[in-house]
Amino acid sequence: MKEKIQQLLDAEKKIKLGGGEERIAKQHKSGKLTARERINLLFDEGSFVELDKFVEHRCTNFGMEKVKAPADGVVTGYGTVNGRLVFAFAQDFTVLGGSLGEMHASKICKVQDMALKMGAPIIGFNDSGGARIQEGVDALSGYGKIFYRNTIASGSIPQISVIMGPSAGGAVYSPALTDFIFMVENTSRMFITGPQVIKSVTGQEVSQEELGGASTHNKVSGVAHFMDKTEEECIERIKELLSFLPSNNLEDAPAFETGDSINRIEEGLNEIVPVNPNKPYDMKEVIKLIADNGYFFEVHEYFAQNIITGFIRLNGKPVGVVANQPRILAGCLDINASDKAARFIRTCDAFNIPLLNLVDVPGFLPGVEQEYGGIIRHGAKMLYAYSEATVPKVTLIIRKAYGGAYLAMCSKDLGADQVFAWPNAEIAVMGPDGAANIIFKKDIENSDNPIETRQEKINEYRNTIASPYIAAQRGFVDDVLVPSTTRPRLISAFEMLESKRESRPAKKHGNMPL
Ligand code: HXC
Repeated sequence: MKEKIQQLLDAEKKIKLGGGEERIAKQHKSGKLTARERINLLFDEGSFVELDKFVEHRCTNFGMEKVKAPADGVVTGYGTVNGRLVFAFAQDFTVLGGSLGEMHASKICKVQDMALKMGAPIIGFNDSGGARIQEGVDALSGYGKIFYRNTIASGSIPQISVIMGPSAGGAVYSPALTDFIFMVENTSRMFITGPQVIKSVTGQEVSQEELGGASTHNKVSGVAHFMDKTEEECIERIKELLSFLPSNNLEDAPAFETGDSINRIEEGLNEIVPVNPNKPYDMKEVIKLIADNGYFFEVHEYFAQNIITGFIRLNGKPVGVVANQPRILAGCLDINASDKAARFIRTCDAFNIPLLNLVDVPGFLPGVEQEYGGIIRHGAKMLYAYSEATVPKVTLIIRKAYGGAYLAMCSKDLGADQVFAWPNAEIAVMGPDGAANIIFKKDIENSDNPIETRQEKINEYRNTIASPYIAAQRGFVDDVLVPSTTRPRLISAFEMLESKRESRPAKKHGNMPL
């Protein structure tokens, strides 16, 4: 027996070395941790249990029968993160470049199935040369099985993808099917076709980093949600994100005692919005003044910055925030902002996280590019996502709420459970300038002093129509708040809404605009 135990321990030791010392050194030299180091950083100390470490590939093409691939290039298992059950897989680039073959894929599928059965989040560390070329269609089939499971698990358990190396070709679609994508500066790469293929097909020259690095996917394409300088920082951020999410769609996100008073009056909110309605301010300051301990965990920070999405805690409970940012494009909704917000709203709704909508929106962004790009189709996603969402929805109109964008930011008619406005709010079909030009056109034209008359009419419109009281008279706004009292009132609203139950007609699924 002693001998057998020693054999087992030796085999385990060899497997844990992955592709060997040399390749591990190469991995470190390129600024990356190994698969096992990543796993160790993620899980509570000593909690990770590896599954399937003895799995081997069955490929015999191109002399592969002689190639040993420890754990078949992927570490899979479960453990706890801050005491909560989490499943994970981490591709091991030191073993055949982390390439995905039949058995590698079946290991990933096994933890995907287990995560779904147990109702626990799954985190995938991607660091791979893609489909294992020697395994041909078996490798492609492996990806197909993973995509299928990503889709089936969507909305049931949180799925998080971490790109910590290459993720190329069709392989990018597993991360794309998950809820959140994390990337690391200078080492993560995602693209469907790499620079060489692009050059040969289109003649365009582009570096790997420019094409599919963390900055590109966080700022330009919006494919990724988070970007960090180091893998260690990235893993810390993943843990923080997990703290805002429930383990599955049948649970609530965990609440914490934050120590911040639920009755806190915040005088700063009375002054934060400039008197001049065309002057910008930083909506993130508003969010922080409302949130427990001023803490805001932003999601998709660098993409479509005219809208802000992220999590705060109110009375210790997670709340998803969707807010217009007047500092960027005056807070207008455009294609990217609509996509970003709609996705976030659906993520919150899937995982029972209430929504707080902070509105200062002059409208949808006008422009030929926007129309040609399908702003109608994209903007509709927000209307759809808010209408469909059954979590508690609270809307606060801070300043402008015009036209379709007023509706798209979750008005009463889209099912907002509570709508509040600050006294300076302007709720109308369009902004006073544009409206005055249309409805007072004749008065302005016939006036001896058109400039003065126009300004008078703008003021008249703003004071009569574009005020929160008209909407409040009709019950579209439940209350007009002194801004400093916002935090206690929002907390009270969310507490009242905690037992909200709302059902929808039975159907296979809706047909959301895509
Ligand atoms: C088998 C692979 C591999 C692959 C890398 N390796 N990719 N083996 N299948 N797809 C092996 C290499 O042969 C090498 O083995 C080791 O991994 C490390 O690779 P290097 O090239 O030495 O590393 P590096 O210089 O860092 O370059 C990494 C890389 C490059 C950029 C990822 O390896 C590369 O371009 N690989 C091919 C990428 C690709 O085109 N994949 C197919 C994508 S299409 P040794 O033994 O020498 O150390 C796809 C379809 C999915 O994935 C479809 C899903 C629907």
